Amino acid sequence: MSQKNIFSGVQPTGNLHLGNYIGAIKNFVKLQSENDSKCIYCVVDLHAITTKQDPQKLKENILETTAVFLASGIDPSKSIIFNQSMVPAHSEGTWILSCIARMGWLNRMTQFKEKAGKDKEKASVGLYIYPILMAADILLYDATHVPVGEDQKQHLELTRDIAQKFNTDFKVQDFFKIPDPLIQEKFSRIMSLKDAKNKMSKSDPSDASRINLTDTEDQIHNKIKKAKTDTKSFPANEKDLNKRPEIQNLIGIYSSLKSQKISDTINRFQGKNFSNFKEKLSEVVIEHISPISKEISKLKSDKGHILQVLKDGSEKAEAIASEKVKKIKEIIGF
Ligand code: TYM
Repeated sequence: MSQKNIFSGVQPTGNLHLGNYIGAIKNFVKLQSENDSKCIYCVVDLHAITTKQDPQKLKENILETTAVFLASGIDPSKSIIFNQSMVPAHSEGTWILSCIARMGWLNRMTQFKEKAGKDKEKASVGLYIYPILMAADILLYDATHVPVGEDQKQHLELTRDIAQKFNTDFKVQDFFKIPDPLIQEKFSRIMSLKDAKNKMSKSDPSDASRINLTDTEDQIHNKIKKAKTDTKSFPANEKDLNKRPEIQNLIGIYSSLKSQKISDTINRFQGKNFSNFKEKLSEVVIEHISPISKEISKLKSDKGHILQVLKDGSEKAEAIASEKVKKIKEIIGF
């Protein structure tokens, strides 16, 4: 079997949550145990500054995001863990690729429209070209597979377009690998606990809308107890979930953490009331998240260790990415 190059990233913008875990990080850990995979996981701090950050808080969030990787089970002896700003090739690659990407392509990016909001004239230029930085991240490591949540799908499509255009324009077929997104069919979009029209998000002003990976058992229990449901009874089958997004979300979270089919979860709780289901859901979430949360606080007390992991990882990443940038420069005539 041919080798899979896995690359993915998480922004160090604080409040990492259950959606990040189920949609992405849980899969990072799984992929690292596959024999034919070489995994690289990046704390994308250059992405974080596309919106305003407090420098001291950013510093802490870089360490915390790295601690989340480690506490979730990413093993630096198996995977490369590093932060983007320590590898200058990302910024250099972004400039070159921004001369390949077309304005029309970027104008279609829905995440920019969502994040920039109504006043897009005031959004940073960095926020606008953010998907090109993401393309550079992926293409510099010849990634073949990119595990992400559903919200990153369009950025992956743009990455593929940039890679294909570069290969065609410079007649270097296969120079950039065309990466495939690895998006789970079922649990790739975990929704807010308060309003299932919105995805669970770090930036939601309501802390009750998400389970943070640093939450205590009591916090998790309370948030799930107060999670929005409806007045109908527990669904009898999967079809019953249509037009009941809150219930679908909670059953999805349970099924994903239990690694079981949604229909199995429905069969187990059929005829029971929601408070009974929520109790069991809390138990499952606590079983998965509490060990991570405890390990995060342990790791955070040893900043030296986290910094060493990032330094070692950055050296390995730098060796790969700078070599690719060297080849890019030769191809484009520098
Ligand atoms: P970020 O930091 O917003 O999110 C990290 C990962 O978590 C996933 N995710 C979710 N999955 C399911 N349900 C949710 N509610 C949810 N919220 C977030 C995201 O899809 C993502 O996989 N642009 C990226 C980071 C990035 C990157 C990359 C990813 C930069 N360069 C290269 C892959 C490859 C981002 O902002 O993710």
